[in-house]
Amino acid sequence: MFTRYALQDIQLADGIEIAKGDEIGLLLGAANRDPRQFADPASFVSGRSDKANVTFGAGIHFCIGAPLARLELQTSLPILFERLPGLRLDDTPQYRDAYHFHGLERLDLAW
Ligand code: HEM
Repeated sequence: MFTRYALQDIQLADGIEIAKGDEIGLLLGAANRDPRQFADPASFVSGRSDKANVTFGAGIHFCIGAPLARLELQTSLPILFERLPGLRLDDTPQYRDAYHFHGLERLDLAW
């Protein structure tokens, strides 16, 4: 969840009115796992054709480190897979029970 301030008056579909200057708590509920946006949203599918993922956010707060993060992954992952060709899951990944920066608690691998 992030808080933001409304830059203008906003009328939402459900009759909710937000006035300019109001502080709003925004819960990033589904993001890349939104079944209305993505086919098979809970599966990791490399090279998805639906490019509209929101991994790095959107709009004026779009992640300023996105190019660096993409470069790091494009550089490091091929090296990792080349060095450890037998890399595989050793157990079911454990997700943290958190609404903010939802991610893994544990990722047990073997090679
Ligand atoms: C895979 C890695 C990363 C992911 C998934 C990620 C994700 C995100 C997301 C979703 C946002 C938007 C948050 C919002 O809407 O308020 C964001 C913002 C931001 N990220 Fe990243 N990020 C990553 C790496 C990085 C790196 C490497 C840096 C810096 C070197 C960075 C710096 C920032 C900064 C400064 C913002 C705030 C931008 C703003 O509010 O204008 N991030 N990031």
